[in-house]
Amino acid sequence: MKLFINPHEKLAYINPEIQGHFSEHLGRCIYEGIYVGEDSDIPNVNGMRKDVVEALKNIQIPVLRWPGGCFADEYHWKDGIGPKETRKKMINTHWGGVVEDNSFGTHEFMELCKQLGCKTYVNGNVGSGTVQEMSEWVEYMTFDGVSPMADLRKENGHDDPWIVDYFGVGNENWGCGGNMTPEYYGNLYRRYQTYVRDYNKDRKIFKVSCGPNADDYEWIDAVMKTCFRAPAPEQFHGFMDGMSLHYYTVPHDWDVKGSATDFTDKEWYLTLRKTLKMKEIIETQAAIMDKYDKKRQVGIIVDEWGTWYDCEPGTNPGFLYQQNTIRDAVVAGVNLNIFNKHADRVLMANIAQMVNVLQAVILTDGEKMILTPTYHVFDMYKCHQGAELVSSYVENETIGLEEENMVPALSESVSIGKDGRLHVTIANLSIDKSYDIDGVVTDSEIKGVSGEVVTGEIHEHNTFDAPENVVKKSFDDCQIVDNKLKFTVPAASVLHLSVEV
Ligand code: AHR
Repeated sequence: MKLFINPHEKLAYINPEIQGHFSEHLGRCIYEGIYVGEDSDIPNVNGMRKDVVEALKNIQIPVLRWPGGCFADEYHWKDGIGPKETRKKMINTHWGGVVEDNSFGTHEFMELCKQLGCKTYVNGNVGSGTVQEMSEWVEYMTFDGVSPMADLRKENGHDDPWIVDYFGVGNENWGCGGNMTPEYYGNLYRRYQTYVRDYNKDRKIFKVSCGPNADDYEWIDAVMKTCFRAPAPEQFHGFMDGMSLHYYTVPHDWDVKGSATDFTDKEWYLTLRKTLKMKEIIETQAAIMDKYDKKRQVGIIVDEWGTWYDCEPGTNPGFLYQQNTIRDAVVAGVNLNIFNKHADRVLMANIAQMVNVLQAVILTDGEKMILTPTYHVFDMYKCHQGAELVSSYVENETIGLEEENMVPALSESVSIGKDGRLHVTIANLSIDKSYDIDGVVTDSEIKGVSGEVVTGEIHEHNTFDAPENVVKKSFDDCQIVDNKLKFTVPAASVLHLSVEV
């Protein structure tokens, strides 16, 4: 197969936030997975697990979304500030009916982002919250001066305002966030976003409206029609800077989704075929948005994506805890390549979710922590953060076991990184076939190449007893022959080549 790369045709800047993460008050994501409290025996800094924070820093997590998800539309932020002993307890009705003690709130989220060195994406409550509540939250977090909310923040021990980079005005308001019609939500969006004030004139808040459930194109059209307003020349903003998209890879259906670890070859291809639908949805969403947003000023924010299987047997079904195999690594590689290839429009994407929930990059069990195959893919792809997407094309063939679940064998994207090297990432979707690749780089001398790969038997995964079944390995089998790259991409793999040109 031939791979063509033209480094002279630069297509788009790859926003680092495309490799963003999502953490919800759901199951063991926040509590135990990230936050254990200052008094825990698990090593921590201000309550945040040291091992988890270090692992996340290694993959250069660029942005973190919080507090939900469905939880966001029943979260009342004032319950999560002030002395921990007096914080209100509530029932987490969406996720397992457990008691939420609000010990992780705004201050803790900001502390976590500070430790991670990442941007902040806060999701506000439209479903069950008031305009005043949302407006005051923004004031509490970002106002530098004398005001009731800034004073309250200072009383709670934080003099300086924080930076809120992104703010979501509601979550899944077509479903768990209030079961609204798009027109109704669109009008609420216009109203709520008005009070998401930019107190910090140098760091405008990027406002995200609630987008569709997967391919619900009517939702996009009606929301855009109701509340898109082009920015006036003197303003940075119209009413919105981004519209979200939630699309999960669910192998079967929502009632019986399929097992994370025990799947057939047919289910492998079914899962990948469903993952590839992401491309079609992004392109259609962009086309509908373009009808209103003629200058393409509103970005697509894929703030929930990933695999969603039946939860691990014996675990609380409300906690959405699942294992993660080579299949998830390939799903991650395919999705991240799709986001790269649409980097002109996809400005952020957040895998669901960071720790212990759905397609997590990290799993914990008490004091133990393991990195999943998906983690290692993020580790390989971090070279694309802040890079320039360049033109690339790979010859392909269609593979699969059932007519309705055929997929292209290879998925690729290529960028020129901040280090000046070409970064080629390729996922091989075939269970059993490797591909010999001849890589041609237009008008460039190839001076050197190194590689790394995640591959294995398709069901392989890491456990607390065997944490290194699947790891990233170095890949030394790429030769430079007649100024071409010659290599074989293994079956069921995700590969990264770093090329000096
Ligand atoms: O990520 C789990 C849930 O999936 C989120 O809370 C919700 O937004 C979506 O339905």
